[in-house]
Amino acid sequence: MPENMQADLLNDAFNTFRDASKKLEQQYAMLENRIEELNEEIAEKNRAMERTRRLAAMGEMAAKIAHEIRNPLGSMAILATLLERELTRDNEKRKLAEHITKGVKTLDNLLSNMLLFATAPGARLKEVDIREVIEESILLTRGHEKKGVSIKAWYEGRTRIMGDQAQLRQLFLNLLLNSLDAVEEGGSLSIRTRLDEKTRDFLQIEMKDTGKGIPEEHLDRIFDPFFSTKERGTGLGLAIVATVINAHNGSIDVRSKQGEGTEFLISLPVAGARKLVC
Ligand SMILES: Nc1ncnc2c1ncn2[C@@H]1O[C@H](COP(=O)(O)OP(=O)(O)O)[C@@H](O)[C@H]1O
Ligand SMILES: [Mg+2]
Repeated sequence: MPENMQADLLNDAFNTFRDASKKLEQQYAMLENRIEELNEEIAEKNRAMERTRRLAAMGEMAAKIAHEIRNPLGSMAILATLLERELTRDNEKRKLAEHITKGVKTLDNLLSNMLLFATAPGARLKEVDIREVIEESILLTRGHEKKGVSIKAWYEGRTRIMGDQAQLRQLFLNLLLNSLDAVEEGGSLSIRTRLDEKTRDFLQIEMKDTGKGIPEEHLDRIFDPFFSTKERGTGLGLAIVATVINAHNGSIDVRSKQGEGTEFLISLPVAGARKLVC
């Protein structure tokens, strides 16, 4: 082979080798980048896992504390009620005893919301009468009454739904307490239940108040945990309402006008509803 041909071949081989090694270098750099990305993803997943573990531990702790506080609170409630009965003739002292009862109820409600939020137990669905549940919730608002404010309820037709009685009681109590907070003296709260005329598989519950209403810019945030516009609010009430509605495969809607009032529209599956065929 002539010498110049040999040099050409060598040159070609050298060029091919240089291109291949350049490509390899690029691929190596790409791999290095990908490894870095994967390492970052793993680190982020580990951080998320650690956060979840801590939240679960905090939930467990909150549940334990709530249980511990509940027992003495129960005794306090009984003693305060006894005291109220004893003091029927001493108006001033009776008012103080009523104050204790109200405080105990507020704490008990806070604990129930905290327990539901921290432990997120699944709903145990059984056939329940929504009328009974709502009446129980209305009774639980005792101590939070507002002067001249009435709560009226109308139940039309069927009232049996598939639900978890304790969770639904908490749901209605949270809505009623918010409405009582929002209304002024002389305002009103009304509840109306009726069967969905189209499907007849859902019970519709309308809860209306003539309170101060919710500003439009707050409407998408009211169901977020910890969103509150109250000085001493926890922002857990409506978050629990949303969780309970989800656990019941229901839906909730809100309409509100500032200065006029607020209306929550709830839909829950009735007991023995026809299964939807898809
Ligand atoms: N019926 C209502 N009328 C006016 N505002 C309401 C009503 N219900 C809820 N809200 C608004 O939604 C916020 C969140 O409610 P909630 O989750 O129960 O928390 P909290 O009562 O502790 O503030 C309230 O702070 C209030 O601003
Ligand atoms: Mg509330």
